[in-house]
Amino acid sequence: MSLTTRRSFLAATAAAATAVPAARSQTREARVEVLLGEPIAPIAPEIYGHFVEHLGGVVYDGVWVGENSKIPNVGGIRKQLVEALARTKPSVIRWPGGCFADQYDWRDGIGPRGQRPKRTNFWVDSSSWPKNAARTGAHLFDPNTFGTIEFARLCRLTNSQPYIAANLRSLPAQDFWRWVEYCNSPAGSTTNAELRARDGEAAPLNVRYWGVGNESWGCGGNFAPEEYAVEFRRYSAWVPSYGQQLAFIGSGPNGGDLNWTRKFFEKAGRLGIGALWGWGLHHYSWNASSGRTTDWVQGKRDALNFDNEQYHEILKEGQRVETLITSHWDVMGEFDRQHRVKIAIDEWGAWYAPGTEPFPEALIGQQNTMRDAILAAQSLDTFHRHAEKVGMANIAQLVNCLQSLFLAHEDRFCLTPTYHVFDMYSPHQGAESIRTLFLCPPVRYERAGQPASLPGLSGSASRKGNQLTLTVTNPSLTDAREADINLQGARAQSAKATLLTAPDVHAHNTFANPNAVQPKSQSVLLQSGRLIHNFPVASVTRLDITLA
Ligand code: AHR
Repeated sequence: MSLTTRRSFLAATAAAATAVPAARSQTREARVEVLLGEPIAPIAPEIYGHFVEHLGGVVYDGVWVGENSKIPNVGGIRKQLVEALARTKPSVIRWPGGCFADQYDWRDGIGPRGQRPKRTNFWVDSSSWPKNAARTGAHLFDPNTFGTIEFARLCRLTNSQPYIAANLRSLPAQDFWRWVEYCNSPAGSTTNAELRARDGEAAPLNVRYWGVGNESWGCGGNFAPEEYAVEFRRYSAWVPSYGQQLAFIGSGPNGGDLNWTRKFFEKAGRLGIGALWGWGLHHYSWNASSGRTTDWVQGKRDALNFDNEQYHEILKEGQRVETLITSHWDVMGEFDRQHRVKIAIDEWGAWYAPGTEPFPEALIGQQNTMRDAILAAQSLDTFHRHAEKVGMANIAQLVNCLQSLFLAHEDRFCLTPTYHVFDMYSPHQGAESIRTLFLCPPVRYERAGQPASLPGLSGSASRKGNQLTLTVTNPSLTDAREADINLQGARAQSAKATLLTAPDVHAHNTFANPNAVQPKSQSVLLQSGRLIHNFPVASVTRLDITLA
């Protein structure tokens, strides 16, 4: 328990405010109403999922360093990453892509490691390679030393479930279920089970989540939605379950493409969507919506050098995921009236212009600032608010790529601000999401010379027994918000807080300075069962509240 008197509370908040030079004023107009009588649904732990693709520096150097490396490892997997990731309770990891998935032959990644074939990586011709990236190496020509077994071990070491995204564009449907057979058939039952045993895993890997292609509207085959529905059916029907409740995830829309969702469900509904567990939705945030350009690469802006407009616009773009969830959900409900199929946001995060890669071979690797921590927090809060709809989410990607939790190169390693959000938010996993209202003046800014705004405070709450977790972001660059927090239908017995903020929203962690952004504990003012808390500028806060 961490209680303070009102005087020491005010002194503490004043100290916190002076630590953030951007703060100009404090308002008292903010209120948070936690409606304990209005549970939404349990928050699926799978919302705290990750994504590992054979892309740039994600697998080789990021995750996999090899058993004979001087870098501390567990069976070839980077030890620091395993330990740090496990602390956040990662629920599920998606692999091997991404676009890579629809080019991958799973047979290349089994058998003795030294004898596996080298294959040209899907990303070899990307226009985003830094000019000084080596023209040979595992980032271009995959040695396949990290395959199904190594992936399963990464999952086991971090206590997470495997989610395999299978190839639909360039392998026949038979390969799909042969891969399922390799993973899940009982020990000694099939030739594939024997191959698995030869690879060191006699017992079934029990892989439940299977992606049926990836971005099938694009790199996964440029299908029309009706065509994809037919392919989905062909690949996912009559796959042996081996006692598993297989959960197939369909390749859902590109952002707001409701036509893709409608046409797929229309066609799949007629064919029977029995095997469909989740509908994939990809949403990346970049600055293309700022009115300057919509070009794929040019539309993006820098991860570190951003102005006020770009700061706000990334957060605004991130908030668009809420509309994507509700609009696709509505369309799905036209065909799946019981809403058996959940939304799986199996790629999300910020995507910036090339230029801040942690090392040249880390294709679409980027730095990660306090701005990204706010983006991650507001995204997770959004998923919680729609806990009855969102069954899974996988931030892109785990290490050295897009909005990563880690940067890793050779023997150097650091946690990003986004990592700290995942760590702070983990108590929400499996808890009951509770409807919560945030009443606060908006944050105003200019977008291409026109007035624009973001919600002043936003967040989510969840309850497990008498423990309430309330997470709140304040995106304002100028106004700290002191809020009354009203727990409708309950009283707080004690409360403490964890705060993530930095003197400058551009702050980020590097190999040389790994602790520039890190969370710290705070006290919370409790008055007659009610809470008052100050949310500093550009911050993410978690309140741990014990109910009386
Ligand atoms: O995460 C990077 C890429 O973005 C993935 O490979 C693809 O699915 C998406 O377009």
